[in-house]
Amino acid sequence: MSISSTSRSAAHILPVRFPSDLLRACQGTAGSACLDGLHVVLPVLFEAYPQGCGYGGLVVCPAVPSYLVNPVFESVSDRSVRKYRGDPVPLELVREVIDAATYAPSARRGEQWRFTVLSGEEKTRFIGFFRGELNKIAAERGYQALGSALNSCEIMDQAPISIVVWNAGERGWLTEEHSVAAAMQNMLLRATDLGLGSLWIGDVYSVYEGIRAYFKKHWKLSGAIALGYPAEAGRDFRRKTVDEVTEWMMKN
Ligand SMILES: Cc1cc2nc3c(=O)[nH]c(=O)nc-3n(C[C@H](O)[C@H](O)[C@H](O)COP(=O)(O)O)c2cc1C
Repeated sequence: MSISSTSRSAAHILPVRFPSDLLRACQGTAGSACLDGLHVVLPVLFEAYPQGCGYGGLVVCPAVPSYLVNPVFESVSDRSVRKYRGDPVPLELVREVIDAATYAPSARRGEQWRFTVLSGEEKTRFIGFFRGELNKIAAERGYQALGSALNSCEIMDQAPISIVVWNAGERGWLTEEHSVAAAMQNMLLRATDLGLGSLWIGDVYSVYEGIRAYFKKHWKLSGAIALGYPAEAGRDFRRKTVDEVTEWMMKN
């Protein structure tokens, strides 16, 4: 019987005050629990357990601050990727990325997000259409009218997967769009977690009606996501600090 510790992606640190909380936390999340702020309890798995895989026991290790080991926070600080390797992305991973979207919060639990996944010839055909429409705009109004759209189109061309994201909300609320944006953010986080690179493409808006007509959709177009294995890391830049973006209004 071989023993392995829980995978990094399953590691969570939860506040635990009582031994019963600890057991509950470990059973519920397949993760780790913080025993006293200094130590972490990691469930260990017995592989080849008679009924598959089960917990074999608990081991106590020194604690690492949760924001350093929590995969969500690691993913939050990851960057947009604009260069991709050609290797295909297994469709199970694309499903995982979309699955993450389905857990986003949504206005009135409307789950307004919808997706069209493009790869191979379907993606090539769509990119050809998108590029062609952009060139028509450039011919009429000049290339400066396109902003970054042509560049975004080339990035989509390079990434093996494009996911077109739709807003199926029919109430006309702005908050329906917010739901879809939350879903898109979940997708980017999950992509990073799975070792994929991604880029949010808002530039599809340049051909808003054309893209709806191309896919014969009455839904609103929310954006697209380019997905693939990164050929280079995203570029970091100075972020506005918490104090630059926050106004604290508190009364003691
Ligand atoms: C609503 C939205 C639309 C975006 N559209 C594009 C786009 O069309 N093309 C592009 O290259 N990046 C696009 N981005 C990515 C941003 O440029 C990127 O998130 C920003 O520069 C911050 O960089 P980072 O993601 O690497 O931290 C978009 C991001 C958001 C949130």
